Amino acid sequence: MQRVASAAEVETGKLTVVTAGGRSALLTRIDGRIVAFANWCPHLGLPLARGQLDGKVLRCPWHGSRFDVCSGENLDWANAFIGIPMPGWTHKLLAMGKAPAPLETLAVEERDGEVYVAPPTRGKQRS
Ligand code: FES
Repeated sequence: MQRVASAAEVETGKLTVVTAGGRSALLTRIDGRIVAFANWCPHLGLPLARGQLDGKVLRCPWHGSRFDVCSGENLDWANAFIGIPMPGWTHKLLAMGKAPAPLETLAVEERDGEVYVAPPTRGKQRS
């Protein structure tokens, strides 16, 4: 695990972008507990930092896939285009051959006012 932020930076209802192991990750606070997940969507690998967070559900800003950020469970798959909901017949096209997949959740620990995260295993490597 690697220190990525101070605990005070992580707020309920907001996404905090951090870097762990050279890869981007997101933090938020759910019911007082910090959760961490990779900052890339399992659909096409695009960043989730501008996604819409509603409680523990994050909607990807690109094609609308929704994920439970605590468990990583995929709740809905590719149903929008840049935030605009699309009719059902377009969903297979939007999926672009990708099967629904979960979000990569990360082990996280809050200790002495600091946040420690296990780095994502995939996603764009930052230099
Ligand atoms: S990149 Fe997230 S739903 Fe397509």
